[in-house]
Amino acid sequence: MPKLCVIPGDGIGQEVIPAAVTILQAALPNLETVEAEAGWGCFEKHGVSVLPETLDQIRACGAGLFGAVSSPLRKVDGYKSAILTLRQELNLYANIRPVQSWPRVSPRPDVNLIVVRENSEGLYVSRERSDGETAVAQRIITKQASARIGQKTAELVRQLGRQKVTIVHKANVLPLTDGLFRDTVRQEIELLSPATEIDELLVDVAALKMVAAPETFDVIVTTNLFGDILSDAAAHWGGGLGLAASLNWGDGLAIAEPVHGSAPDIAGQGIANPLAAVLSTALLARFAWGLEEVANRLETAVHQTLTAKNYLQLTTTRAIQEAVLVNLR
Ligand code: IPM
Ligand code: MN
Repeated sequence: MPKLCVIPGDGIGQEVIPAAVTILQAALPNLETVEAEAGWGCFEKHGVSVLPETLDQIRACGAGLFGAVSSPLRKVDGYKSAILTLRQELNLYANIRPVQSWPRVSPRPDVNLIVVRENSEGLYVSRERSDGETAVAQRIITKQASARIGQKTAELVRQLGRQKVTIVHKANVLPLTDGLFRDTVRQEIELLSPATEIDELLVDVAALKMVAAPETFDVIVTTNLFGDILSDAAAHWGGGLGLAASLNWGDGLAIAEPVHGSAPDIAGQGIANPLAAVLSTALLARFAWGLEEVANRLETAVHQTLTAKNYLQLTTTRAIQEAVLVNLR
Protein backbone atom coordinates (compact mmCIF):
# COMPACT_ATOMS: atom_id res chain seq x y z
CA MET A 1 0.00 0.00 0.00
CA PRO A 2 1.59 3.35 -1.01
CA LYS A 3 2.39 5.77 1.80
CA LEU A 4 2.88 9.51 1.44
CA CYS A 5 4.40 12.06 3.77
CA VAL A 6 2.64 15.37 3.06
CA ILE A 7 4.63 18.56 3.72
CA PRO A 8 2.59 21.62 2.69
CA GLY A 9 5.27 24.14 3.77
CA ASP A 10 4.63 27.87 3.44
CA GLY A 11 2.34 30.21 1.50
CA ILE A 12 0.34 28.63 -1.31
CA GLY A 13 1.86 25.25 -0.42
CA GLN A 14 -0.86 25.19 2.28
CA GLU A 15 -3.51 25.52 -0.44
CA VAL A 16 -2.26 23.53 -3.43
CA ILE A 17 -1.01 20.52 -1.50
CA PRO A 18 -4.32 19.63 0.21
CA ALA A 19 -6.02 19.98 -3.20
CA ALA A 20 -3.46 17.68 -4.83
CA VAL A 21 -3.76 15.14 -2.00
CA THR A 22 -7.57 15.08 -2.30
CA ILE A 23 -7.24 14.35 -6.02
CA LEU A 24 -4.52 11.74 -5.48
CA GLN A 25 -6.68 9.98 -2.89
CA ALA A 26 -9.53 9.84 -5.39
CA ALA A 27 -7.19 8.13 -7.88
CA LEU A 28 -5.56 5.95 -5.24
CA PRO A 29 -8.08 5.20 -2.47
CA ASN A 30 -5.74 2.96 -0.48
CA LEU A 31 -3.10 5.69 -0.10
CA GLU A 32 -1.96 6.26 3.48
CA THR A 33 -0.88 9.78 4.39
CA VAL A 34 0.90 11.46 7.28
CA GLU A 35 1.56 15.18 7.57
CA ALA A 36 4.90 16.72 8.52
CA GLU A 37 6.45 20.15 8.94
CA ALA A 38 9.18 21.99 7.06
CA GLY A 39 9.80 25.50 5.80
CA TRP A 40 10.16 29.04 7.06
CA GLY A 41 7.14 28.79 9.35
CA CYS A 42 8.71 25.67 10.83
CA PHE A 43 11.99 27.54 11.35
CA GLU A 44 10.23 30.40 13.14
CA LYS A 45 8.44 27.95 15.38
CA HIS A 46 11.13 25.35 16.07
CA GLY A 47 14.43 26.93 14.98
CA VAL A 48 15.02 24.43 12.17
CA SER A 49 13.61 24.44 8.64
CA VAL A 50 13.14 20.66 8.64
CA LEU A 51 12.20 18.77 11.80
CA PRO A 52 14.12 15.54 12.40
CA GLU A 53 10.71 13.79 12.69
CA THR A 54 9.90 15.00 9.18
CA LEU A 55 12.98 13.22 7.82
CA ASP A 56 12.04 10.06 9.72
CA GLN A 57 8.49 10.18 8.39
CA ILE A 58 9.60 10.62 4.78
CA ARG A 59 12.03 7.72 5.18
CA ALA A 60 9.29 5.57 6.68
CA CYS A 61 6.87 6.40 3.85
CA GLY A 62 9.42 6.26 1.03
CA ALA A 63 7.66 9.18 -0.64
CA GLY A 64 6.89 12.81 0.12
CA LEU A 65 4.91 15.63 -1.41
CA PHE A 66 6.38 19.01 -0.65
CA GLY A 67 4.56 22.32 -1.26
CA ALA A 68 6.77 25.38 -1.22
CA VAL A 69 8.81 27.38 1.22
CA SER A 70 9.32 31.07 1.75
CA SER A 71 12.89 32.19 2.22
CA PRO A 72 14.01 35.23 4.16
CA LEU A 73 15.43 38.03 1.99
CA ARG A 74 18.21 38.68 4.47
CA LYS A 75 20.69 36.12 5.78
CA VAL A 76 19.35 34.50 8.92
CA ASP A 77 21.84 32.66 11.12
CA GLY A 78 21.18 28.96 11.31
CA TYR A 79 18.58 28.97 8.52
CA LYS A 80 19.02 26.71 5.54
CA SER A 81 16.43 26.24 2.80
CA ALA A 82 14.13 23.35 3.63
CA ILE A 83 14.16 21.88 0.14
CA LEU A 84 17.97 21.91 -0.03
CA THR A 85 18.10 20.25 3.40
CA LEU A 86 15.65 17.55 2.29
CA ARG A 87 17.58 16.86 -0.93
CA GLN A 88 20.84 16.54 0.95
CA GLU A 89 19.71 14.67 4.04
CA LEU A 90 17.71 12.15 2.02
CA ASN A 91 20.23 11.84 -0.80
CA LEU A 92 17.69 12.74 -3.48
CA TYR A 93 20.36 13.02 -6.14
CA ALA A 94 18.23 13.36 -9.26
CA ASN A 95 15.69 16.03 -10.08
CA ILE A 96 13.29 15.00 -12.83
CA ARG A 97 11.53 17.94 -14.49
CA PRO A 98 9.31 17.02 -17.43
CA VAL A 99 7.88 19.75 -19.66
CA GLN A 100 5.15 19.12 -22.17
CA SER A 101 2.90 21.44 -24.15
CA TRP A 102 -0.33 21.53 -22.16
CA PRO A 103 -3.36 22.66 -24.14
CA ARG A 104 -4.53 26.28 -23.73
CA VAL A 105 -1.70 27.37 -21.48
CA SER A 106 1.38 26.42 -23.49
CA PRO A 107 2.71 28.95 -26.02
CA ARG A 108 3.52 26.18 -28.52
CA PRO A 109 2.11 22.73 -29.22
CA ASP A 110 5.12 20.51 -29.78
CA VAL A 111 7.33 20.43 -26.67
CA ASN A 112 7.86 17.17 -24.83
CA LEU A 113 11.14 17.14 -22.96
CA ILE A 114 12.55 16.12 -19.60
CA VAL A 115 15.31 17.89 -17.73
CA VAL A 116 17.28 15.51 -15.51
CA ARG A 117 19.11 17.75 -13.08
CA GLU A 118 21.97 16.49 -10.91
CA ASN A 119 20.60 17.41 -7.50
CA SER A 120 23.38 16.82 -4.98
CA GLU A 121 26.53 18.74 -5.86
CA GLY A 122 27.91 21.36 -8.29
CA LEU A 123 27.51 24.85 -6.88
CA TYR A 124 24.84 23.59 -4.49
CA VAL A 125 27.42 22.20 -2.05
CA SER A 126 27.17 25.74 -0.55
CA ARG A 127 30.86 26.04 0.15
CA GLU A 128 31.44 29.76 0.02
CA ARG A 129 34.06 31.92 1.68
CA SER A 130 34.92 35.57 1.53
CA ASP A 131 37.53 37.88 3.07
CA GLY A 132 35.54 40.90 2.00
CA GLU A 133 37.70 41.43 -1.08
CA THR A 134 37.44 38.08 -2.78
CA ALA A 135 34.52 35.70 -2.50
CA VAL A 136 34.85 32.10 -3.63
CA ALA A 137 32.21 29.42 -4.22
CA GLN A 138 33.35 25.86 -4.78
CA ARG A 139 31.72 23.85 -7.53
CA ILE A 140 32.18 20.15 -6.88
CA ILE A 141 31.75 17.48 -9.54
CA THR A 142 32.50 13.87 -8.60
CA LYS A 143 32.71 10.78 -10.71
CA GLN A 144 30.41 8.96 -8.29
CA ALA A 145 27.60 11.52 -8.49
CA SER A 146 28.02 11.85 -12.26
CA ALA A 147 27.81 8.07 -12.65
CA ARG A 148 24.63 7.75 -10.61
CA ILE A 149 22.89 10.58 -12.48
CA GLY A 150 23.95 8.87 -15.71
CA GLN A 151 22.45 5.62 -14.43
CA LYS A 152 19.22 7.32 -13.38
CA THR A 153 18.97 8.95 -16.81
CA ALA A 154 19.46 5.60 -18.54
CA GLU A 155 16.81 4.03 -16.31
CA LEU A 156 14.35 6.84 -17.12
CA VAL A 157 15.02 6.68 -20.85
CA ARG A 158 14.34 2.96 -20.85
CA GLN A 159 11.21 3.19 -18.69
CA LEU A 160 9.71 5.92 -20.86
CA GLY A 161 10.95 4.67 -24.23
CA ARG A 162 12.77 7.92 -24.95
CA GLN A 163 15.17 8.13 -27.91
CA LYS A 164 17.78 10.80 -27.29
CA VAL A 165 19.78 12.24 -24.40
CA THR A 166 21.53 15.59 -24.60
CA ILE A 167 24.32 16.11 -22.06
CA VAL A 168 24.57 19.82 -21.24
CA HIS A 169 27.84 21.18 -19.81
CA LYS A 170 30.50 23.87 -20.12
CA ALA A 171 33.55 21.67 -20.70
CA ASN A 172 35.18 24.21 -23.03
CA VAL A 173 35.85 26.43 -20.01
CA LEU A 174 35.71 23.81 -17.24
CA PRO A 175 37.35 20.75 -18.81
CA LEU A 176 38.18 19.02 -15.50
CA THR A 177 34.81 19.34 -13.76
CA ASP A 178 32.43 19.40 -16.69
CA GLY A 179 34.64 17.07 -18.71
CA LEU A 180 34.37 14.53 -15.89
CA PHE A 181 30.60 14.99 -15.76
CA ARG A 182 30.15 14.63 -19.51
CA ASP A 183 32.41 11.61 -19.96
CA THR A 184 31.05 9.75 -16.95
CA VAL A 185 27.40 10.34 -17.83
CA ARG A 186 28.03 9.31 -21.43
CA GLN A 187 29.76 6.10 -20.36
CA GLU A 188 26.91 5.05 -18.09
CA ILE A 189 24.22 5.70 -20.69
CA GLU A 190 26.21 3.88 -23.39
CA LEU A 191 26.57 0.94 -21.06
CA LEU A 192 23.02 0.75 -19.71
CA SER A 193 21.01 1.95 -22.69
CA PRO A 194 23.10 1.27 -25.81
CA ALA A 195 20.28 2.06 -28.26
CA THR A 196 19.91 5.62 -26.97
CA GLU A 197 21.25 8.41 -29.15
CA ILE A 198 23.56 10.66 -27.11
CA ASP A 199 24.57 14.16 -28.04
CA GLU A 200 25.99 17.06 -26.07
CA LEU A 201 25.65 20.84 -26.00
CA LEU A 202 27.44 23.66 -24.26
CA VAL A 203 25.03 25.26 -21.81
CA ASP A 204 24.92 28.63 -23.59
CA VAL A 205 24.04 26.94 -26.88
CA ALA A 206 21.48 24.81 -25.04
CA ALA A 207 19.89 27.99 -23.65
CA LEU A 208 19.56 29.46 -27.14
CA LYS A 209 18.06 26.23 -28.40
CA MET A 210 15.65 26.09 -25.47
CA VAL A 211 14.35 29.46 -26.62
CA ALA A 212 14.48 28.91 -30.38
CA ALA A 213 13.75 25.20 -30.89
CA PRO A 214 12.57 23.51 -27.67
CA GLU A 215 10.78 20.82 -29.67
CA THR A 216 14.15 19.35 -30.68
CA PHE A 217 14.96 18.26 -27.11
CA ASP A 218 14.07 14.85 -25.74
CA VAL A 219 15.94 14.16 -22.46
CA ILE A 220 18.49 16.67 -21.13
CA VAL A 221 20.92 15.70 -18.37
CA THR A 222 23.00 18.38 -16.73
CA THR A 223 24.70 19.65 -13.59
CA ASN A 224 22.81 21.24 -10.70
CA LEU A 225 22.79 24.98 -11.46
CA PHE A 226 22.51 24.56 -15.23
CA GLY A 227 19.54 22.28 -14.61
CA ASP A 228 17.97 24.80 -12.24
CA ILE A 229 18.15 27.52 -14.89
CA LEU A 230 17.30 25.46 -17.97
CA SER A 231 14.32 23.81 -16.29
CA ASP A 232 12.75 27.19 -15.48
CA ALA A 233 13.26 28.29 -19.10
CA ALA A 234 11.77 25.01 -20.31
CA ALA A 235 8.79 25.40 -17.95
CA HIS A 236 7.73 28.43 -19.96
CA TRP A 237 6.92 26.15 -22.91
CA GLY A 238 4.79 23.90 -20.77
CA GLY A 239 2.52 26.75 -19.74
CA GLY A 240 4.61 28.35 -17.02
CA LEU A 241 5.31 27.55 -13.40
CA GLY A 242 1.61 26.85 -12.74
CA LEU A 243 2.07 23.58 -14.64
CA ALA A 244 5.68 22.70 -13.80
CA ALA A 245 6.12 19.50 -11.78
CA SER A 246 9.25 17.90 -10.42
CA LEU A 247 10.48 14.84 -8.61
CA ASN A 248 13.48 14.81 -6.30
CA TRP A 249 14.55 11.20 -6.57
CA GLY A 250 17.09 8.98 -4.90
CA ASP A 251 17.33 5.24 -4.36
CA GLY A 252 14.00 4.05 -2.99
CA LEU A 253 13.03 7.54 -1.83
CA ALA A 254 11.36 10.43 -3.65
CA ILE A 255 9.86 13.83 -2.92
CA ALA A 256 7.56 15.40 -5.49
CA GLU A 257 7.46 19.16 -5.60
CA PRO A 258 5.73 21.74 -7.78
CA VAL A 259 8.52 23.95 -9.16
CA HIS A 260 6.74 27.18 -8.17
CA GLY A 261 7.49 29.04 -4.95
CA SER A 262 5.29 29.97 -1.99
CA ALA A 263 3.84 33.04 -3.83
CA PRO A 264 3.34 35.26 -0.74
CA ASP A 265 1.57 37.84 -2.93
CA ILE A 266 -1.43 35.56 -3.48
CA ALA A 267 -1.17 33.23 -0.46
CA GLY A 268 -4.30 32.91 1.65
CA GLN A 269 -6.68 33.96 -1.11
CA GLY A 270 -7.55 30.48 -2.35
CA ILE A 271 -6.62 31.32 -5.94
CA ALA A 272 -3.38 29.36 -6.41
CA ASN A 273 -3.39 26.87 -9.28
CA PRO A 274 -2.94 23.32 -7.90
CA LEU A 275 -2.19 21.69 -11.27
CA ALA A 276 1.60 21.68 -10.84
CA ALA A 277 1.10 19.93 -7.50
CA VAL A 278 -1.29 17.43 -9.10
CA LEU A 279 1.19 16.71 -11.89
CA SER A 280 3.91 16.26 -9.25
CA THR A 281 1.83 13.52 -7.61
CA ALA A 282 1.62 11.85 -11.03
CA LEU A 283 5.42 11.70 -11.04
CA LEU A 284 5.33 9.93 -7.67
CA ALA A 285 2.84 7.44 -9.05
CA ARG A 286 4.93 6.76 -12.15
CA PHE A 287 8.42 6.68 -10.69
CA ALA A 288 8.24 6.09 -6.95
CA TRP A 289 5.33 3.64 -6.90
CA GLY A 290 5.50 2.21 -10.41
CA LEU A 291 1.79 2.96 -10.90
CA GLU A 292 1.83 4.09 -14.52
CA GLU A 293 -1.92 3.76 -14.87
CA VAL A 294 -2.57 6.08 -11.93
CA ALA A 295 -0.07 8.59 -13.33
CA ASN A 296 -1.82 8.51 -16.70
CA ARG A 297 -5.23 9.00 -15.15
CA LEU A 298 -4.05 12.05 -13.23
CA GLU A 299 -2.38 13.55 -16.30
CA THR A 300 -5.39 12.85 -18.49
CA ALA A 301 -7.66 14.53 -15.93
CA VAL A 302 -5.40 17.61 -15.97
CA HIS A 303 -5.44 17.58 -19.77
CA GLN A 304 -9.23 17.43 -19.85
CA THR A 305 -9.56 20.16 -17.25
CA LEU A 306 -7.39 22.43 -19.39
CA THR A 307 -9.26 21.73 -22.61
CA ALA A 308 -12.74 22.16 -21.08
CA LYS A 309 -14.59 25.25 -22.25
CA ASN A 310 -14.83 26.66 -18.75
CA TYR A 311 -11.14 26.37 -17.78
CA LEU A 312 -10.55 30.10 -17.85
CA GLN A 313 -13.51 30.58 -15.51
CA LEU A 314 -11.91 28.28 -12.92
CA THR A 315 -10.33 31.02 -10.87
CA THR A 316 -10.01 29.33 -7.49
CA THR A 317 -7.96 26.43 -6.16
CA ARG A 318 -11.20 24.74 -5.14
CA ALA A 319 -12.83 25.13 -8.57
CA ILE A 320 -9.81 23.59 -10.32
CA GLN A 321 -9.71 20.77 -7.75
CA GLU A 322 -13.40 19.99 -8.38
CA ALA A 323 -12.91 20.08 -12.16
CA VAL A 324 -9.99 17.64 -11.98
CA LEU A 325 -12.02 15.34 -9.73
CA VAL A 326 -14.87 15.31 -12.24
CA ASN A 327 -12.43 14.49 -15.06
CA LEU A 328 -10.73 11.69 -13.13
CA ARG A 329 -11.87 8.31 -14.33
C1 IPM B 1 14.26 24.86 -7.41
C2 IPM B 1 14.46 26.10 -6.58
C3 IPM B 1 15.52 25.82 -5.52
C4 IPM B 1 16.82 25.51 -6.22
C5 IPM B 1 15.71 27.00 -4.52
C6 IPM B 1 14.41 27.35 -3.82
C7 IPM B 1 16.79 26.71 -3.51
O1 IPM B 1 14.80 27.18 -7.39
O2 IPM B 1 13.82 23.84 -6.88
O3 IPM B 1 14.56 24.89 -8.62
O4 IPM B 1 17.60 26.40 -6.55
O5 IPM B 1 17.06 24.31 -6.45
MN1 MN C 1 14.82 26.72 -9.55
